[in-house]
Amino acid sequence: MVSTTKTDVLSLATQVAREAGALLMEYFRQRVAIEYKGEADLVTIADRKSEALIRERLREHWPSHDILGEEGGLHDTGSDYRWYVDPLDGTTNFAHGFPVFCVSMALEHKGKRIAGVIYDPTRDELFAAEQGSGAYLNDERVRVSKTATLAECLVATGFPSHKRHKNPNIFFYHQITLRTHGVRRAGSAALDLCCVACGRFDGFWEFNLNPWDTAAGVLIVEEAGGKVTNFHGGPFELNSRETLASNGLVHEALLQEFDKIFAGRDLESLPELRTGN
Ligand code: IPD
Ligand code: CA
Ligand code: CA
Repeated sequence: MVSTTKTDVLSLATQVAREAGALLMEYFRQRVAIEYKGEADLVTIADRKSEALIRERLREHWPSHDILGEEGGLHDTGSDYRWYVDPLDGTTNFAHGFPVFCVSMALEHKGKRIAGVIYDPTRDELFAAEQGSGAYLNDERVRVSKTATLAECLVATGFPSHKRHKNPNIFFYHQITLRTHGVRRAGSAALDLCCVACGRFDGFWEFNLNPWDTAAGVLIVEEAGGKVTNFHGGPFELNSRETLASNGLVHEALLQEFDKIFAGRDLESLPELRTGN
C-alpha cells in the first residue's frame, strides 16, 4: 500500500486519471454503442471500463479506502478516506462524438476534500488541486478570473439527463443569459468547474449534481481562489444538490439574480413567439 501523504496521492491519482483518459480516447475513436440508464440518461462500455480500471488502481494503492463511483456505487470499508469517481463526465457528448468529456477523481478525509484531479484527454489538460496548495493546470498554477461585473461575465450551466421535466433551470438560463455575456452549456460539469478555476468562465451553476460530478471540481475552484456555495449563499455540500461556483467577485451578484428568479421578481419575459416571420 502507498502512503496517503499529499504528494503521493496527487501524483498517483494523476497517473490513474491519465490512464483512464487514454482508455476513453480509444473508445471515443471507435464510436461505441449507446445504452440507456433512463429516458435520456446514457451510458457506454467506456464508462464502465474506465471505472473498473480506476477502481482496480485505487485498490492496488489504497486497499482500505472507500470508493463511490457513478457506475459501481459505494464500496464502503468504514475508512476515513473516500474516493469520488466519475469515470466519464460528459457521457452524452462522448456518445455523440462531441469532444468535451473528462475523468474526475477526488479524495475526502473525514468528510474534508483533500485532493482532486480532473483529466480532459481530448486536450491533454490535467487539472489538479490539494487542499491548501493551490490549483494547477498541467503543472502551471491557475487562478479564477478578475471580472467583477456580472454584465461582463461568461458563465456556464448544465441540465441533468434524468427527471428533466422537474428541472427549473431553463428559467435561470433565460434570465442569466440576459444579464451576462452569455451562458455556455457544454455538457461536462467537472470541466465547467475547471473552466471557472482557470478563468475561462466567471461562474457556473447547476441543479441536482451528484457527489462524483462536483467533488474534485469544487476543490479545484476553491484552491484557485474561487467560491462555491448553494443557491442561497450557504455552504456547498456534496449532497446539497445546488452548486454555484464563481470567481468570488460576482458571487453576490449571481446570488441576487437567483433570489429574484426564485421569488419571480423583476424577471425578463420571454419574447412573443411568432411563426412565419
Ligand atoms: C453529466 C454532466 C453534465 C451535467 C449532468 C451530469 P455524466 O454527467 O456533468 O454536464 O449537466 O447533470 O449528469 O452523466 O455525463 O457523468
Ligand atoms: Ca458526471
Ligand atoms: Ca459519468
